[in-house]
Amino acid sequence: MEIVSRRVLTVLNVEGPKPSSFGSPRVSRSCWISRWFCVLIMIGSLVSFSLAIGGGYMYVLPSLSQATLEDDISPSNKSIDGCDIFDGSWVVDDTYPLYNASECPFVEQGFNCLANGRRDKDYLKWRWKPRKCDIPRFDVRNILERLRSKRVVFVGDSMSRTQWESLICLLMTGVEDKKSVYEVNGNNITKRIRFLGVRFSSFNFTIEFFRSVFLVQHGWMPRHAPRRVRSTLILDKLDSISNQWVNSDVLIFNTGQWWVPGKLFETGCYFQVGNAMKLGMSIPIAFRFALGTWASWVEKVIDRNRTRVFFRSFEPYHWSNQSRRFCNVSQHPMPDTEGRDQSVYSDTISEVVKNMTVPITVLHITSMSAFRSDSHVGIWSDNPSVPDCSHWCLPGVPDMWNEILLSYFLSNYSLPLQ
Ligand SMILES: *[C@@H]1O[C@H](CO)[C@@H](O)[C@H](O)[C@H]1NC(C)=O
Ligand SMILES: *[C@@H]1O[C@H](CO)[C@@H](O)[C@H](O)[C@H]1NC(C)=O
Ligand SMILES: *[C@@H]1O[C@H](CO)[C@@H](O)[C@H](O)[C@H]1NC(C)=O
Ligand SMILES: *[C@@H]1O[C@H](CO)[C@@H](O)[C@H](O)[C@H]1NC(C)=O
Ligand SMILES: *[C@@H]1O[C@H](CO)[C@@H](O)[C@H](O)[C@H]1NC(C)=O
Ligand SMILES: *[C@@H]1O[C@H](CO)[C@@H](O)[C@H](O)[C@H]1NC(C)=O
Ligand SMILES: *[C@@H]1O[C@H](CO)[C@@H](O)[C@H](O)[C@H]1NC(C)=O
Ligand SMILES: *[C@@H]1O[C@H](CO)[C@@H](O)[C@H](O)[C@H]1NC(C)=O
Ligand SMILES: *[C@@H]1O[C@H](CO)[C@@H](O)[C@H](O)[C@H]1NC(C)=O
Repeated sequence: MEIVSRRVLTVLNVEGPKPSSFGSPRVSRSCWISRWFCVLIMIGSLVSFSLAIGGGYMYVLPSLSQATLEDDISPSNKSIDGCDIFDGSWVVDDTYPLYNASECPFVEQGFNCLANGRRDKDYLKWRWKPRKCDIPRFDVRNILERLRSKRVVFVGDSMSRTQWESLICLLMTGVEDKKSVYEVNGNNITKRIRFLGVRFSSFNFTIEFFRSVFLVQHGWMPRHAPRRVRSTLILDKLDSISNQWVNSDVLIFNTGQWWVPGKLFETGCYFQVGNAMKLGMSIPIAFRFALGTWASWVEKVIDRNRTRVFFRSFEPYHWSNQSRRFCNVSQHPMPDTEGRDQSVYSDTISEVVKNMTVPITVLHITSMSAFRSDSHVGIWSDNPSVPDCSHWCLPGVPDMWNEILLSYFLSNYSLPLQ
Protein backbone atom coordinates (compact mmCIF):
# COMPACT_ATOMS: atom_id res chain seq x y z
CA MET A 1 0.00 0.00 0.00
CA GLU A 2 1.29 3.36 -0.94
CA ILE A 3 1.27 5.88 1.82
CA VAL A 4 0.83 9.36 0.53
CA SER A 5 1.13 11.99 3.14
CA ARG A 6 0.83 15.42 1.74
CA ARG A 7 -0.49 18.53 3.31
CA VAL A 8 -3.33 19.58 1.14
CA LEU A 9 -5.09 22.88 1.23
CA THR A 10 -7.58 22.91 -1.56
CA VAL A 11 -10.55 24.89 -2.59
CA LEU A 12 -13.89 23.64 -1.60
CA ASN A 13 -17.38 24.53 -2.53
CA VAL A 14 -19.95 23.51 -0.02
CA GLU A 15 -23.44 24.97 -0.38
CA GLY A 16 -24.27 28.05 -2.29
CA PRO A 17 -23.07 29.17 -5.65
CA LYS A 18 -19.76 28.05 -7.00
CA PRO A 19 -17.05 30.66 -6.83
CA SER A 20 -16.23 31.98 -10.27
CA SER A 21 -12.55 31.24 -9.92
CA PHE A 22 -10.52 29.00 -7.70
CA GLY A 23 -7.64 30.24 -5.66
CA SER A 24 -4.53 28.85 -4.08
CA PRO A 25 -4.17 25.41 -5.59
CA ARG A 26 -1.13 24.38 -3.62
CA VAL A 27 -0.96 20.76 -4.65
CA SER A 28 -1.68 19.16 -7.94
CA ARG A 29 -3.14 15.78 -7.37
CA SER A 30 -2.91 13.34 -10.21
CA CYS A 31 -5.90 11.31 -11.17
CA TRP A 32 -5.73 7.73 -10.05
CA ILE A 33 -9.05 6.69 -11.43
CA SER A 34 -7.82 4.07 -13.84
CA ARG A 35 -5.42 2.55 -11.35
CA TRP A 36 -7.92 2.14 -8.60
CA PHE A 37 -10.60 1.06 -10.96
CA CYS A 38 -8.69 -2.19 -11.37
CA VAL A 39 -8.12 -2.45 -7.67
CA LEU A 40 -11.81 -1.89 -7.06
CA ILE A 41 -12.72 -4.71 -9.42
CA MET A 42 -10.36 -6.93 -7.47
CA ILE A 43 -11.93 -5.86 -4.20
CA GLY A 44 -15.37 -6.43 -5.64
CA SER A 45 -14.57 -10.00 -6.53
CA LEU A 46 -12.91 -10.56 -3.19
CA VAL A 47 -16.02 -9.26 -1.44
CA SER A 48 -18.40 -11.50 -3.35
CA PHE A 49 -16.12 -14.49 -2.97
CA SER A 50 -15.74 -14.06 0.75
CA LEU A 51 -19.44 -13.47 1.23
CA ALA A 52 -20.10 -16.57 -0.79
CA ILE A 53 -17.99 -18.68 1.53
CA GLY A 54 -19.97 -17.31 4.41
CA GLY A 55 -17.68 -14.81 6.06
CA GLY A 56 -19.97 -12.30 7.68
CA TYR A 57 -17.26 -10.00 8.79
CA MET A 58 -13.92 -9.46 7.27
CA TYR A 59 -11.19 -7.02 6.74
CA VAL A 60 -11.05 -5.47 3.37
CA LEU A 61 -9.35 -2.19 3.76
CA PRO A 62 -6.59 -2.00 6.28
CA SER A 63 -6.00 1.58 7.28
CA LEU A 64 -2.72 3.33 6.91
CA SER A 65 -1.68 2.66 10.43
CA GLN A 66 -2.47 -1.00 10.22
CA ALA A 67 0.42 -2.97 8.84
CA THR A 68 -0.71 -6.44 9.73
CA LEU A 69 -3.95 -8.30 10.17
CA GLU A 70 -3.07 -10.03 13.38
CA ASP A 71 -6.27 -9.39 15.31
CA ASP A 72 -9.29 -11.61 15.26
CA ILE A 73 -11.99 -10.14 13.11
CA SER A 74 -15.19 -11.14 14.83
CA PRO A 75 -17.02 -8.63 16.99
CA SER A 76 -15.79 -8.84 20.53
CA ASN A 77 -16.68 -6.87 23.60
CA LYS A 78 -13.39 -5.18 24.23
CA SER A 79 -14.06 -1.82 25.79
CA ILE A 80 -13.24 1.34 23.87
CA ASP A 81 -11.57 2.87 26.92
CA GLY A 82 -7.92 3.30 26.18
CA CYS A 83 -8.34 2.11 22.59
CA ASP A 84 -7.65 4.28 19.54
CA ILE A 85 -11.08 4.05 17.99
CA PHE A 86 -9.88 5.81 14.82
CA ASP A 87 -7.21 3.22 14.05
CA GLY A 88 -9.03 0.52 12.15
CA SER A 89 -10.66 -0.43 8.89
CA TRP A 90 -14.00 -0.64 7.13
CA VAL A 91 -15.59 -4.09 7.17
CA VAL A 92 -18.63 -5.38 5.34
CA ASP A 93 -21.61 -5.82 7.64
CA ASP A 94 -24.96 -6.90 6.26
CA THR A 95 -26.87 -5.58 9.26
CA TYR A 96 -26.33 -2.08 7.92
CA PRO A 97 -27.79 0.46 7.17
CA LEU A 98 -29.41 1.25 10.50
CA TYR A 99 -32.38 3.20 9.12
CA ASN A 100 -34.31 4.00 5.97
CA ALA A 101 -33.92 7.67 5.06
CA SER A 102 -37.27 7.70 3.29
CA GLU A 103 -38.95 6.90 6.58
CA CYS A 104 -37.14 9.62 8.48
CA PRO A 105 -38.66 13.08 7.99
CA PHE A 106 -35.44 14.79 9.09
CA VAL A 107 -33.21 13.69 6.23
CA GLU A 108 -33.11 16.54 3.75
CA GLN A 109 -33.90 15.46 0.22
CA GLY A 110 -30.43 16.30 -1.05
CA PHE A 111 -28.80 13.61 1.09
CA ASN A 112 -31.27 10.77 0.47
CA CYS A 113 -29.30 9.17 -2.36
CA LEU A 114 -31.53 6.13 -2.80
CA ALA A 115 -34.60 8.33 -3.18
CA ASN A 116 -32.65 10.45 -5.67
CA GLY A 117 -32.01 7.47 -7.89
CA ARG A 118 -28.83 5.79 -6.68
CA ARG A 119 -29.02 2.12 -7.65
CA ASP A 120 -25.89 0.47 -6.24
CA LYS A 121 -26.26 -0.34 -2.57
CA ASP A 122 -22.93 -1.74 -1.42
CA TYR A 123 -21.99 1.64 0.02
CA LEU A 124 -24.63 1.12 2.73
CA LYS A 125 -23.00 -2.01 4.11
CA TRP A 126 -19.80 -0.86 5.70
CA ARG A 127 -19.01 -0.67 9.39
CA TRP A 128 -15.92 0.88 10.98
CA LYS A 129 -13.93 -1.65 13.01
CA PRO A 130 -11.26 -0.23 15.32
CA ARG A 131 -8.22 -2.49 15.37
CA LYS A 132 -8.04 -3.05 19.12
CA CYS A 133 -11.63 -2.81 20.26
CA ASP A 134 -15.20 -2.61 19.04
CA ILE A 135 -17.61 0.21 18.78
CA PRO A 136 -20.59 -0.96 20.82
CA ARG A 137 -23.51 -2.15 18.72
CA PHE A 138 -26.02 0.65 18.30
CA ASP A 139 -28.60 -0.03 21.02
CA VAL A 140 -31.26 2.57 20.48
CA ARG A 141 -33.23 1.97 23.71
CA ASN A 142 -30.13 2.34 25.84
CA ILE A 143 -29.08 5.54 24.05
CA LEU A 144 -32.57 7.05 24.23
CA GLU A 145 -32.54 6.47 27.99
CA ARG A 146 -29.10 8.01 28.35
CA LEU A 147 -30.25 11.09 26.50
CA ARG A 148 -33.39 11.52 28.61
CA SER A 149 -33.76 15.19 29.67
CA LYS A 150 -30.53 16.17 27.92
CA ARG A 151 -29.75 18.89 25.41
CA VAL A 152 -27.48 17.90 22.54
CA VAL A 153 -26.19 20.76 20.37
CA PHE A 154 -24.37 20.58 17.04
CA VAL A 155 -22.60 23.74 15.87
CA GLY A 156 -21.00 24.15 12.46
CA ASP A 157 -21.56 23.94 8.72
CA SER A 158 -23.61 21.66 6.47
CA MET A 159 -21.47 18.67 7.46
CA SER A 160 -22.63 19.25 11.00
CA ARG A 161 -26.21 19.45 9.78
CA THR A 162 -25.77 16.08 8.04
CA GLN A 163 -24.53 14.54 11.26
CA TRP A 164 -27.43 16.12 13.12
CA GLU A 165 -29.90 14.61 10.65
CA SER A 166 -28.20 11.24 10.91
CA LEU A 167 -28.35 11.21 14.71
CA ILE A 168 -32.05 12.06 14.70
CA CYS A 169 -32.80 9.26 12.23
CA LEU A 170 -30.76 6.75 14.22
CA LEU A 171 -32.66 7.69 17.39
CA MET A 172 -36.06 7.67 15.70
CA THR A 173 -35.73 3.97 14.97
CA GLY A 174 -36.40 3.45 18.68
CA VAL A 175 -39.42 5.74 18.88
CA GLU A 176 -42.79 4.17 18.18
CA ASP A 177 -44.87 7.32 17.92
CA LYS A 178 -42.97 9.19 15.18
CA LYS A 179 -45.26 12.21 15.69
CA SER A 180 -43.77 12.66 19.15
CA VAL A 181 -40.57 13.81 17.45
CA TYR A 182 -40.82 17.28 15.93
CA GLU A 183 -38.91 20.42 15.05
CA VAL A 184 -39.62 22.86 17.86
CA ASN A 185 -40.53 25.78 15.56
CA GLY A 186 -42.25 23.66 12.92
CA ASN A 187 -39.49 24.50 10.45
CA ASN A 188 -38.47 22.37 7.51
CA ILE A 189 -34.77 21.68 7.10
CA THR A 190 -33.21 24.22 4.78
CA LYS A 191 -29.62 25.00 3.99
CA ARG A 192 -29.44 28.55 5.32
CA ILE A 193 -31.49 28.24 8.48
CA ARG A 194 -29.61 29.37 11.60
CA PHE A 195 -31.31 27.10 14.10
CA LEU A 196 -33.08 23.77 14.01
CA GLY A 197 -34.12 21.87 17.11
CA VAL A 198 -35.78 18.49 17.17
CA ARG A 199 -37.52 17.42 20.32
CA PHE A 200 -38.05 13.80 21.34
CA SER A 201 -41.00 14.56 23.59
CA SER A 202 -41.39 11.07 25.12
CA PHE A 203 -37.80 11.28 26.29
CA ASN A 204 -37.71 15.00 27.09
CA PHE A 205 -34.57 15.74 25.09
CA THR A 206 -33.65 17.88 22.09
CA ILE A 207 -31.08 17.47 19.35
CA GLU A 208 -30.25 20.94 18.03
CA PHE A 209 -28.26 22.42 15.19
CA PHE A 210 -26.82 25.93 14.98
CA ARG A 211 -25.43 26.99 11.64
CA SER A 212 -22.15 28.75 12.27
CA VAL A 213 -19.86 27.92 9.39
CA PHE A 214 -16.80 29.75 10.74
CA LEU A 215 -17.63 29.66 14.48
CA VAL A 216 -16.36 33.26 14.68
CA GLN A 217 -18.38 36.34 13.83
CA HIS A 218 -19.05 37.45 10.29
CA GLY A 219 -19.33 41.26 10.13
CA TRP A 220 -20.15 43.93 7.58
CA MET A 221 -17.60 46.02 5.78
CA PRO A 222 -15.80 48.26 8.25
CA ARG A 223 -15.45 51.97 7.54
CA HIS A 224 -12.30 53.08 5.70
CA ALA A 225 -11.67 49.58 4.38
CA PRO A 226 -10.20 49.07 0.91
CA ARG A 227 -12.73 48.71 -1.87
CA ARG A 228 -12.31 44.98 -2.28
CA VAL A 229 -13.41 44.35 1.29
CA ARG A 230 -17.12 43.61 1.45
CA SER A 231 -17.29 41.82 4.77
CA THR A 232 -14.98 40.57 7.48
CA LEU A 233 -14.50 37.59 9.71
CA ILE A 234 -13.82 38.94 13.16
CA LEU A 235 -11.33 36.37 14.38
CA ASP A 236 -11.32 37.42 18.02
CA LYS A 237 -15.11 37.29 18.45
CA LEU A 238 -17.11 34.11 18.60
CA ASP A 239 -20.35 33.99 16.59
CA SER A 240 -23.04 36.25 18.02
CA ILE A 241 -25.36 33.29 18.63
CA SER A 242 -22.78 31.48 20.76
CA ASN A 243 -24.59 32.32 24.00
CA GLN A 244 -27.27 29.87 22.88
CA TRP A 245 -24.82 26.97 22.81
CA VAL A 246 -23.92 27.18 26.47
CA ASN A 247 -26.52 25.39 28.57
CA SER A 248 -26.14 22.03 26.91
CA ASP A 249 -25.12 18.54 27.94
CA VAL A 250 -23.34 17.61 24.73
CA LEU A 251 -21.76 20.12 22.35
CA ILE A 252 -20.33 18.97 19.01
CA PHE A 253 -18.42 21.50 16.89
CA ASN A 254 -17.02 21.44 13.40
CA THR A 255 -15.62 23.98 10.97
CA GLY A 256 -13.22 23.88 8.04
CA GLN A 257 -15.13 23.55 4.78
CA TRP A 258 -15.66 27.31 4.47
CA TRP A 259 -12.07 28.28 5.21
CA VAL A 260 -11.13 28.48 1.54
CA PRO A 261 -10.41 31.40 -0.81
CA GLY A 262 -13.61 30.77 -2.76
CA LYS A 263 -15.71 31.38 0.34
CA LEU A 264 -13.54 34.18 1.73
CA PHE A 265 -11.29 36.41 -0.38
CA GLU A 266 -13.15 35.73 -3.61
CA THR A 267 -16.39 36.94 -2.06
CA GLY A 268 -14.67 40.03 -0.63
CA CYS A 269 -14.46 38.63 2.89
CA TYR A 270 -11.20 39.40 4.71
CA PHE A 271 -9.98 38.90 8.26
CA GLN A 272 -10.24 41.37 11.10
CA VAL A 273 -8.84 41.31 14.63
CA GLY A 274 -10.16 43.93 17.00
CA ASN A 275 -10.62 47.03 14.87
CA ALA A 276 -7.75 46.19 12.56
CA MET A 277 -8.09 44.66 9.11
CA LYS A 278 -5.62 41.84 8.47
CA LEU A 279 -5.56 41.87 4.69
CA GLY A 280 -2.41 39.81 4.37
CA MET A 281 -3.29 37.12 6.88
CA SER A 282 -3.29 33.61 5.40
CA ILE A 283 -6.16 31.22 5.88
CA PRO A 284 -4.29 28.67 8.05
CA ILE A 285 -3.12 31.43 10.40
CA ALA A 286 -6.62 32.88 10.58
CA PHE A 287 -8.10 29.43 11.19
CA ARG A 288 -5.74 28.92 14.10
CA PHE A 289 -6.61 32.35 15.47
CA ALA A 290 -10.33 31.58 15.28
CA LEU A 291 -9.88 28.26 17.04
CA GLY A 292 -7.95 30.07 19.76
CA THR A 293 -10.95 32.36 20.20
CA TRP A 294 -13.18 29.30 20.36
CA ALA A 295 -10.88 27.68 22.94
CA SER A 296 -10.90 30.73 25.23
CA TRP A 297 -14.66 30.87 24.97
CA VAL A 298 -14.98 27.21 25.96
CA GLU A 299 -12.61 27.72 28.89
CA LYS A 300 -14.60 30.72 30.07
CA VAL A 301 -18.23 29.70 29.67
CA ILE A 302 -18.52 25.93 29.63
CA ASP A 303 -19.64 24.23 32.82
CA ARG A 304 -17.26 21.34 32.78
CA ASN A 305 -19.35 19.44 35.31
CA ARG A 306 -22.21 19.36 32.88
CA THR A 307 -21.19 19.78 29.27
CA ARG A 308 -19.24 17.21 27.26
CA VAL A 309 -17.47 19.00 24.41
CA PHE A 310 -16.55 17.33 21.11
CA PHE A 311 -14.82 18.73 18.04
CA ARG A 312 -15.15 16.75 14.84
CA SER A 313 -12.11 16.90 12.58
CA PHE A 314 -12.19 17.82 8.89
CA GLU A 315 -14.42 15.82 6.53
CA PRO A 316 -12.44 14.70 3.47
CA TYR A 317 -13.84 15.08 -0.03
CA HIS A 318 -13.26 13.14 -3.23
CA TRP A 319 -13.30 15.49 -6.19
CA SER A 320 -11.51 14.34 -9.32
CA ASN A 321 -9.33 17.41 -9.42
CA GLN A 322 -8.92 20.96 -8.26
CA SER A 323 -11.70 22.31 -10.38
CA ARG A 324 -14.37 20.73 -8.16
CA ARG A 325 -16.66 20.24 -11.07
CA PHE A 326 -16.00 16.57 -11.65
CA CYS A 327 -16.18 13.52 -9.53
CA ASN A 328 -17.29 9.95 -9.91
CA VAL A 329 -18.65 8.32 -6.82
CA SER A 330 -17.14 4.84 -6.66
CA GLN A 331 -19.07 1.70 -5.80
CA HIS A 332 -16.62 0.64 -3.13
CA PRO A 333 -14.33 2.43 -0.72
CA MET A 334 -10.95 3.27 -2.16
CA PRO A 335 -8.00 1.15 -1.05
CA ASP A 336 -5.76 4.15 -0.55
CA THR A 337 -6.61 7.53 0.93
CA GLU A 338 -4.26 9.29 -1.51
CA GLY A 339 -3.32 11.81 1.14
CA ARG A 340 -6.86 12.66 2.11
CA ASP A 341 -6.27 11.26 5.60
CA GLN A 342 -4.29 14.42 6.33
CA SER A 343 -5.71 17.90 6.75
CA VAL A 344 -4.22 21.13 8.02
CA TYR A 345 -7.56 21.87 9.63
CA SER A 346 -7.57 18.62 11.57
CA ASP A 347 -3.97 19.13 12.67
CA THR A 348 -4.76 22.61 13.92
CA ILE A 349 -7.79 21.37 15.84
CA SER A 350 -5.67 18.72 17.59
CA GLU A 351 -2.96 21.21 18.47
CA VAL A 352 -5.33 23.81 19.88
CA VAL A 353 -7.28 21.26 21.90
CA LYS A 354 -4.11 19.83 23.43
CA ASN A 355 -3.52 23.14 25.16
CA MET A 356 -6.92 23.41 26.81
CA THR A 357 -7.88 22.68 30.39
CA VAL A 358 -11.49 21.77 29.58
CA PRO A 359 -11.34 18.22 28.26
CA ILE A 360 -12.31 18.17 24.59
CA THR A 361 -12.84 14.95 22.68
CA VAL A 362 -11.67 15.28 19.11
CA LEU A 363 -13.58 13.00 16.78
CA HIS A 364 -10.72 12.23 14.38
CA ILE A 365 -12.89 11.12 11.49
CA THR A 366 -10.66 12.51 8.72
CA SER A 367 -8.63 9.41 7.97
CA MET A 368 -11.43 6.85 8.38
CA SER A 369 -13.71 8.85 6.09
CA ALA A 370 -10.94 9.34 3.52
CA PHE A 371 -11.47 5.78 2.25
CA ARG A 372 -15.14 6.40 1.53
CA SER A 373 -15.14 7.72 -2.02
CA ASP A 374 -18.24 5.56 -2.45
CA SER A 375 -20.37 7.43 0.04
CA HIS A 376 -20.74 10.94 -1.40
CA VAL A 377 -24.00 12.21 -2.80
CA GLY A 378 -22.49 12.67 -6.26
CA ILE A 379 -25.31 13.22 -8.75
CA TRP A 380 -27.93 11.76 -6.39
CA SER A 381 -28.57 15.08 -4.67
CA ASP A 382 -31.31 17.68 -5.01
CA ASN A 383 -29.33 19.18 -7.89
CA PRO A 384 -28.20 16.31 -10.13
CA SER A 385 -26.69 18.64 -12.74
CA VAL A 386 -23.83 19.46 -10.35
CA PRO A 387 -22.02 16.50 -8.83
CA ASP A 388 -21.15 16.80 -5.14
CA CYS A 389 -18.23 14.86 -3.72
CA SER A 390 -18.14 16.82 -0.48
CA HIS A 391 -21.45 15.92 1.14
CA TRP A 392 -22.38 12.38 2.16
CA CYS A 393 -25.37 10.16 1.53
CA LEU A 394 -27.68 9.28 4.40
CA PRO A 395 -27.62 6.58 5.55
CA GLY A 396 -23.85 6.53 5.24
CA VAL A 397 -20.59 7.69 6.72
CA PRO A 398 -22.07 10.31 9.12
CA ASP A 399 -23.94 7.47 10.88
CA MET A 400 -20.57 6.02 11.81
CA TRP A 401 -19.42 9.40 13.15
CA ASN A 402 -22.49 9.26 15.37
CA GLU A 403 -21.92 5.69 16.48
CA ILE A 404 -18.47 6.78 17.58
CA LEU A 405 -19.90 9.83 19.34
CA LEU A 406 -22.46 7.65 21.10
CA SER A 407 -19.82 5.15 22.16
CA TYR A 408 -18.31 7.87 24.34
CA PHE A 409 -21.61 8.17 26.17
CA LEU A 410 -21.41 4.50 27.16
CA SER A 411 -17.78 4.36 28.21
CA ASN A 412 -15.99 5.95 31.12
CA TYR A 413 -16.95 9.24 29.65
CA SER A 414 -20.55 8.34 30.16
CA LEU A 415 -23.53 10.57 30.27
CA PRO A 416 -25.08 9.92 33.65
CA LEU A 417 -28.45 8.21 33.51
CA GLN A 418 -31.22 10.45 34.76
C1 LIG B 1 -17.37 -10.65 26.63
O1 LIG B 1 -18.67 -10.89 27.16
C2 LIG B 1 -18.87 -12.24 27.60
C3 LIG B 1 -20.31 -12.38 28.06
O2 LIG B 1 -21.14 -11.46 27.44
C4 LIG B 1 -17.89 -12.56 28.70
O3 LIG B 1 -18.05 -13.92 29.08
C5 LIG B 1 -16.46 -12.35 28.21
O4 LIG B 1 -15.58 -12.53 29.27
C6 LIG B 1 -16.31 -10.93 27.68
N1 LIG B 1 -15.00 -10.80 27.09
C7 LIG B 1 -14.21 -9.74 27.35
C8 LIG B 1 -12.91 -9.73 26.63
O5 LIG B 1 -14.53 -8.83 28.10
C1 LIG C 1 -37.62 2.70 2.61
O1 LIG C 1 -38.94 3.12 2.84
C2 LIG C 1 -39.67 3.42 1.67
C3 LIG C 1 -40.99 4.05 2.08
O2 LIG C 1 -41.56 3.37 3.13
C4 LIG C 1 -39.83 2.13 0.86
O3 LIG C 1 -40.55 2.40 -0.31
C5 LIG C 1 -38.47 1.60 0.53
O4 LIG C 1 -38.57 0.37 -0.14
C6 LIG C 1 -37.60 1.43 1.75
N1 LIG C 1 -36.25 1.17 1.33
C7 LIG C 1 -35.53 0.18 1.81
C8 LIG C 1 -34.15 0.05 1.29
O5 LIG C 1 -35.96 -0.58 2.65
C1 LIG D 1 -37.03 17.67 31.13
O1 LIG D 1 -35.68 18.08 30.98
C2 LIG D 1 -35.37 19.26 31.68
C3 LIG D 1 -33.91 19.58 31.43
O2 LIG D 1 -33.66 19.65 30.07
C4 LIG D 1 -35.60 19.09 33.18
O3 LIG D 1 -35.34 20.31 33.83
C5 LIG D 1 -37.02 18.66 33.39
O4 LIG D 1 -37.20 18.38 34.77
C6 LIG D 1 -37.33 17.42 32.58
N1 LIG D 1 -38.75 17.10 32.73
C7 LIG D 1 -39.16 15.89 33.04
C8 LIG D 1 -40.64 15.71 33.12
O5 LIG D 1 -38.38 14.98 33.26
C1 LIG E 1 -42.70 22.20 5.24
O1 LIG E 1 -42.86 21.42 4.08
C2 LIG E 1 -44.18 20.92 3.92
C3 LIG E 1 -44.21 19.98 2.74
O2 LIG E 1 -43.32 20.38 1.75
C4 LIG E 1 -45.13 22.11 3.76
O3 LIG E 1 -46.46 21.62 3.62
C5 LIG E 1 -45.04 23.00 5.00
O4 LIG E 1 -45.84 24.15 4.84
C6 LIG E 1 -43.61 23.42 5.24
N1 LIG E 1 -43.52 24.11 6.52
C7 LIG E 1 -42.91 25.27 6.68
C8 LIG E 1 -42.90 25.85 8.05
O5 LIG E 1 -42.36 25.85 5.76
C1 LIG F 1 -17.85 20.68 39.69
O1 LIG F 1 -17.73 19.49 40.45
C2 LIG F 1 -16.72 19.56 41.44
C3 LIG F 1 -16.55 18.19 42.09
O2 LIG F 1 -17.72 17.46 42.01
C4 LIG F 1 -17.10 20.64 42.45
O3 LIG F 1 -16.10 20.73 43.44
C5 LIG F 1 -17.23 21.97 41.72
O4 LIG F 1 -17.68 22.98 42.61
C6 LIG F 1 -18.20 21.87 40.57
N1 LIG F 1 -18.16 23.08 39.81
C7 LIG F 1 -19.24 23.72 39.42
C8 LIG F 1 -19.02 24.96 38.61
O5 LIG F 1 -20.35 23.33 39.69
C1 LIG G 1 -10.57 18.19 -14.22
O1 LIG G 1 -11.01 16.94 -14.71
C2 LIG G 1 -11.86 17.03 -15.84
C3 LIG G 1 -12.37 15.65 -16.19
O2 LIG G 1 -11.61 14.66 -15.64
C4 LIG G 1 -11.10 17.68 -16.98
O3 LIG G 1 -11.96 17.81 -18.10
C5 LIG G 1 -10.63 19.05 -16.54
O4 LIG G 1 -9.84 19.63 -17.57
C6 LIG G 1 -9.81 18.94 -15.28
N1 LIG G 1 -9.52 20.30 -14.82
C7 LIG G 1 -8.35 20.65 -14.29
C8 LIG G 1 -8.23 22.05 -13.86
O5 LIG G 1 -7.45 19.84 -14.15
C1 LIG H 1 -16.72 9.30 -14.74
O1 LIG H 1 -17.51 8.26 -15.26
C2 LIG H 1 -17.92 8.50 -16.60
C3 LIG H 1 -18.86 7.40 -16.99
O2 LIG H 1 -18.76 6.30 -16.18
C4 LIG H 1 -16.70 8.58 -17.50
O3 LIG H 1 -17.11 8.85 -18.83
C5 LIG H 1 -15.80 9.69 -17.01
O4 LIG H 1 -14.62 9.73 -17.75
C6 LIG H 1 -15.46 9.51 -15.56
N1 LIG H 1 -14.75 10.69 -15.09
C7 LIG H 1 -13.69 10.63 -14.33
C8 LIG H 1 -13.10 11.92 -13.93
O5 LIG H 1 -13.21 9.56 -13.96
C1 LIG I 1 -0.56 26.90 24.61
O1 LIG I 1 -0.81 27.83 25.65
C2 LIG I 1 0.29 28.59 26.03
C3 LIG I 1 -0.10 29.43 27.23
O2 LIG I 1 -1.37 29.96 27.09
C4 LIG I 1 0.73 29.43 24.85
O3 LIG I 1 1.88 30.17 25.20
C5 LIG I 1 1.08 28.51 23.68
O4 LIG I 1 1.39 29.26 22.53
C6 LIG I 1 -0.12 27.63 23.35
N1 LIG I 1 0.22 26.68 22.32
C7 LIG I 1 -0.59 26.41 21.28
C8 LIG I 1 -0.11 25.37 20.32
O5 LIG I 1 -1.64 27.00 21.10
C1 LIG J 1 -12.06 3.43 32.42
O1 LIG J 1 -12.59 2.37 33.17
C2 LIG J 1 -11.70 1.28 33.32
C3 LIG J 1 -12.40 0.17 34.09
O2 LIG J 1 -13.69 0.50 34.45
C4 LIG J 1 -10.44 1.77 34.05
O3 LIG J 1 -9.52 0.69 34.17
C5 LIG J 1 -9.81 2.90 33.26
O4 LIG J 1 -8.71 3.43 33.97
C6 LIG J 1 -10.80 4.01 33.03
N1 LIG J 1 -10.24 4.99 32.16
C7 LIG J 1 -10.31 6.30 32.40
C8 LIG J 1 -9.69 7.17 31.38
O5 LIG J 1 -10.87 6.76 33.36
